Amino acid sequence: MNDMLKKISVSQLREGMYIHDLKCDWLNHPFVLNSFKLKTDTEIRKIIAAGITLVEIDTEKGLDLLVEEPQLEKSPLTKVVDNQPKKFTALEEMGKAKVAFSMAGEFITDMMSNAKMGQHIELEQVNPVINKLSQSILRNPNALLGLSRIRSMDVYTFEHSVSFSVLMMAFAKSMGLSEKIICEVGIGGLLHDIGKTLTPDEILNKPGKLTPEEFVIMKQHVVDSRKILEKTVGLSKVSMDIAAQHHEKYDGNGYPLGLKGGQISLYGQMAAIVDVYDALTADRCYHEGKEPSEVLKLLVKWGGTHFNPRLVREFIQSVGIYPAGSLVMLNNHHLAKVIDINDNMLKPVVEVFLNAKTRSYIPRKLIDLSKLDTIKILKVESHAKWNVVF
Ligand SMILES: [Fe+2]
Repeated sequence: MNDMLKKISVSQLREGMYIHDLKCDWLNHPFVLNSFKLKTDTEIRKIIAAGITLVEIDTEKGLDLLVEEPQLEKSPLTKVVDNQPKKFTALEEMGKAKVAFSMAGEFITDMMSNAKMGQHIELEQVNPVINKLSQSILRNPNALLGLSRIRSMDVYTFEHSVSFSVLMMAFAKSMGLSEKIICEVGIGGLLHDIGKTLTPDEILNKPGKLTPEEFVIMKQHVVDSRKILEKTVGLSKVSMDIAAQHHEKYDGNGYPLGLKGGQISLYGQMAAIVDVYDALTADRCYHEGKEPSEVLKLLVKWGGTHFNPRLVREFIQSVGIYPAGSLVMLNNHHLAKVIDINDNMLKPVVEVFLNAKTRSYIPRKLIDLSKLDTIKILKVESHAKWNVVF
C-alpha cells in the first residue's frame, strides 16, 4: 500500500488536503470526482453533510494531518478512528440512561440549593452521578442525548447543566479522549453554571434581552463559578477550564477574560460550542428552541469567530446531522423520531409513529435507514409544528 495514503476522520480534514478516495459511491455524494484537492471549507462541510465519516487522503499531493497544533492538546489529533461496532443500541441503553439522567437532575438541583447557602461542593458527591452518566455514554451516547432533548421550560439552569454534561461527555468520547477525561468534562459540565446560584432570579429568568447593566451582572456567574469551584478539593483542571472558559470566544470577543484561540484550553473551546448548542435547542418560557440541525448550521457559520471551526466539525460528528431526538419526515410521508446514529449520519435509526398525509397514528416501529435504500429522510420537522411531546 502507498505510504502516502492515510485513512482519516472527516473531522480532521482541512483545506489543502488531497482527497484520494471519498470512500463513498460517487452517486451518493455531491462531488463529480472521488479524488480532488480541498480548496475551501465549504467543500469540507459538503463532505460532512453527505454523511461521509471516513476518507483517504494522499499526503504527497496535499497537506498531511497536523502533527502539532499549539492551541490544542495532542490526543484528539492522534486519535484512532473508532470503528468498533456499538455494543448496545440506544433502545437497549434507554432504561439505564433514564436512571442516570434523573439521578443527575436531582443531584444538580440539590447541589445548587446547597451552593446558594454557601456550602462547599464535595467531589465524592459528584462522582457516583458522573460514573452512571459516563458508563451510559460509553455504551451508547444516543440514549442520553435523546433524553436531553426533552425539556420542560421552567427549570432551565438545572436541565441545561445535565444536558451540557451529557453533550460534553459524548463530544469527548467521539474525539477519542480517555475515560478519565470523559468523566472530568462531565463533572465540569454539571458544575459549569454553579455561579448562577448567586445571579438574581429576575436577571436569570428575564424573558428577552438583558440591558447592558444586567448583562454585566449575568457575566459575573462565570467568575462566581470559578470562586465556588476553587474550594472543591481535587477538582481537575479540565473541569475548572470548562466552568471558567465556557463563555470565551475563539476570536477573543467572549468573557470574562476575552481569551483568544489557543489561549482557551481545548475543553473551554469545546464547552463554548456545547453551551450555545444546548441554549439554542432548548425551549424557554419566552421562545421555542430551534431544531438541532438548524443550530448545527449556525455553529458552522460561527466557526472561526465564536468557535474553533475544527471542533465544530468534531461536535457534529458526535451528535450527528440528525441528532437523537430530532423529528424527521420520511419520503413515504411518515413522521419519525431519530433514535440512534449510524456511521452514515444521513441514515439513522428512526421510530415511525404518524402518517403525516392522513394525520393518523401508525403502530410505532423502529426502522434502520442504513439498511433500506427506498426510505430516506426528506427534511427535519419542528416538534412545535406537530405538537409532539415524547
Ligand atoms: Fe454559563
